[in-house]
Amino acid sequence: MAEMNERRALISPSILAADFARLGEDVADVCKRGIDYLHVDVMDGNFVPNISFGSAVMKSLNGISTVPYDVHLMVEEPIRYIKDFVTDNTEFITVHQEACKDLAGTLRAIHELGIKTGVSIKPGTSPEVLDDLLQEIDMILVMSVEPGFGGQKFMDSSLPKISYYRDKRDELGLNYLIEVDGGISSANSNLVIDAGVDVIVAGSAVFNAADRTDEIEKIKG
Ligand code: DX5
Ligand code: ZN
Repeated sequence: MAEMNERRALISPSILAADFARLGEDVADVCKRGIDYLHVDVMDGNFVPNISFGSAVMKSLNGISTVPYDVHLMVEEPIRYIKDFVTDNTEFITVHQEACKDLAGTLRAIHELGIKTGVSIKPGTSPEVLDDLLQEIDMILVMSVEPGFGGQKFMDSSLPKISYYRDKRDELGLNYLIEVDGGISSANSNLVIDAGVDVIVAGSAVFNAADRTDEIEKIKG
């Protein structure tokens, strides 16, 4: 039988959906199940209407996580906090286009700290806003829910944006990764894979699954 998808995505489970009272155990558990990154959702109660946790919580996982951190800063003017999230385990720091007065300067600051840059856009932001900065970006994060909360419904308006960045990358010969975040499970991950995504964030689908290994395998396509 033919494969459903031509290629598999990488997966970055969001620890927002973990049990915070046993965060270390939950992270150790998912790290054993074929994941690629750990998605760290930082919310400031200002850029988004919710507060999650800060860098101390992330750093408490150093030595527990066996995969690199993929940090998603949902924070107004994140340039103020970038340094706090730099660890040996930090691979990407993603900031929101809508949250930065000087996005180019913010990306430079991330690169100067030896970390890969990510830029995220909210559902209402058009993909062209990043056109002038694509060369400076290592990962583009397309939000498929309004940022702020886990467990929301996937918005399929994210699909043409994913394809836009895939086509742009081919056209310009660039190599950034394309990531998608919000409302994704094994029931719909084929949509984002077909649109061209490289990395799938999944919170509730992974942490609440009866069989986490099975759900992870299915999400990857
Ligand atoms: C939303 C966060 C997401 C969220 C994903 O603001 O950025 O990472 O936790 O959770 P699910 O997969 O439950 O939608
Ligand atoms: Zn996120």
